[in-house]
Amino acid sequence: MSKIKVLVTGASGLVGSRFVELAKNYQFITPEYPDFDLTNESLVKKVIDETNPEWIVNFAAFTDVNAAEGQMGDESGLAWKVNVEGVKNLLKAFPSNKIIQISTDMVFPGSIEHPGPYSENDKTPDTKDNLTWYGWTKNRAEKEILGHGGTVLRIIYPVRAHYEQKLDYLHTSLKKFTDGTMYPLFNDQQICISFIDEVAQTLQKIIDTDSTGIFHCCSDTTTPFELISFTVDQLGGDASTIKSASIFDFLATQANKNRYPVYGGLKTVKTEEKLDLHFSTWQTVVEKLIGQGLSLK
Ligand SMILES: NC(=O)c1ccc[n+]([C@@H]2O[C@H](COP(=O)([O-])OP(=O)(O)OC[C@H]3O[C@@H](n4cnc5c(N)ncnc54)[C@H](OP(=O)(O)O)[C@@H]3O)[C@@H](O)[C@H]2O)c1
Repeated sequence: MSKIKVLVTGASGLVGSRFVELAKNYQFITPEYPDFDLTNESLVKKVIDETNPEWIVNFAAFTDVNAAEGQMGDESGLAWKVNVEGVKNLLKAFPSNKIIQISTDMVFPGSIEHPGPYSENDKTPDTKDNLTWYGWTKNRAEKEILGHGGTVLRIIYPVRAHYEQKLDYLHTSLKKFTDGTMYPLFNDQQICISFIDEVAQTLQKIIDTDSTGIFHCCSDTTTPFELISFTVDQLGGDASTIKSASIFDFLATQANKNRYPVYGGLKTVKTEEKLDLHFSTWQTVVEKLIGQGLSLK
């Protein structure tokens, strides 16, 4: 039987590269920026027409949340052009609904008034009022994809054992711990982590079962303080040196409160039921990463 042809955008990125590494059962097409630029409509069409994929998984995005904040409201800025116009370019060139958009819990505000963890059925906001600009661009991209009959897979703080090019959430904190530059960690901010190996497994399940809709892949909820203290302790470090702080005290000093969602996170019950999968708890994710070589060096 011939392998399913899957075009993967952003295949060199933190998450996409692991999917391509793990999912051996597909014929991958991995066009890379700048030969494949999502913001260039004719180039996107040319690559899709020439390669004729059966599925597209769109990992490519403007992912720098702080830089995106500097473009707030600017629909000619790169964050909007890549994350929204880029998705529209993909959809114009690909009439099929076999397209999966990788998204984020930041399409929701994570606020006290509208707290997570959010379920697959929860309605996303229709205004950008309580979102980051990055979150709003990803929110609008979801709307385009779902309007086309495509699929959304939301993830949050994706983590893996090894990736040199960009530090994930755990590696960023572990580096600060070993460098001695760790700041106090929030003990009242609600987060989840997505084990990228499980994200890859979820994508394979969606493709292999021709599923559509909204899916979530992540652990149960924790806090930055609990997560990093546990990880350092499991790695043999002295976690008692890590200090905690309240996100509410921090927010009182911040002009841009939307930048720091307090109650984020995603529920996965419906995804696990529909795809017959079981996602690890955050503690198990850490243990599995340590088994794969995560360390304090
Ligand atoms: N990392 C997170 O914390 C997180 C959390 C939730 C959801 N997500 C979502 O997960 C997906 C993957 O994230 P990631 O962390 O793996 O991202 P990443 O490491 O920053 O990789 C992004 C990829 O997109 C490519 N890209 C950027 N602009 C492009 C353009 N105009 N045309 C074509 N390709 C372009 C990049 O290519 P170059 O390297 O050449 O620029 C890179 O391969 C994204 O959709 C992101 O929104 C990420």
